[in-house]
Amino acid sequence: MEKISPKDFMIQTARCLLRYPLEDDIPHVFSATRVAEFNDGMVWEPPAHMDELYKPLQENLLAWEAGTAFVFTIIALHSKTFIGRISIRQSEQTDVWNIGFWTHPEHQRQGYMTESARASIDFGFNQLGAIHIEASYAIWNKGSQRILEKIGMKFVEYIPQGFQKKGQWIEENKMAITKKEWLSLDRASNIP
Ligand SMILES: CC(C)(COP(=O)(O)OP(=O)(O)OC[C@H]1O[C@@H](n2cnc3c(N)ncnc32)[C@H](O)[C@@H]1OP(=O)(O)O)[C@@H](O)C(=O)NCCC(=O)NCCS
Repeated sequence: MEKISPKDFMIQTARCLLRYPLEDDIPHVFSATRVAEFNDGMVWEPPAHMDELYKPLQENLLAWEAGTAFVFTIIALHSKTFIGRISIRQSEQTDVWNIGFWTHPEHQRQGYMTESARASIDFGFNQLGAIHIEASYAIWNKGSQRILEKIGMKFVEYIPQGFQKKGQWIEENKMAITKKEWLSLDRASNIP
């Protein structure tokens, strides 16, 4: 397994570049969180102030250095516009990784996250040594469900108490794909 630590490591897709997160991204992250309901399907809460985003950035950078989680900023290949974020994190079982993602509301429903999720799965299986990649989504989150289905993940488990929002449990579904399943998919639809 290749060690992925250089900060200039990037993944290129047809329309996007997935790169190391930078301080320059913070205003874009903050602006996404200003949109009503943006955080409802994610475990983390919107920050009250932009300054609160520096600590998670430092944690992301440390995890990248340690090789335990890679949070990529997604930018448009040509315009360099900030599109969103996607992460791939190692679980307690070292060959099981987990993905999570969000697209800035200004750029949703243009296929960017499907493209970036395919690239992250490919990265996980081919460069991180994953044999099993999972993702969970709030059961009302049809966009997330559709992305995970489109990249070939299958339903694994219903989780009645996935995470909490405003003191209420949010039900989740867990989806997953194995390396064997990924390699057996039609390569034409599988290329990031
Ligand atoms: C969910 C989310 C990541 C989708 O990102 P996106 O860049 O819009 O996704 P894509 O454009 O790649 O769309 C993928 C599919 O989902 C569908 N889709 C996207 N948003 C949808 C929505 N709100 N309702 C129903 N379907 C939706 C698209 O139509 C597309 O399906 P299709 O190809 O069959 O038409 C985005 O809405 C988001 O960031 N939401 C807020 C944060 C969040 O909930 N993150 C996920 C946590 S698990």
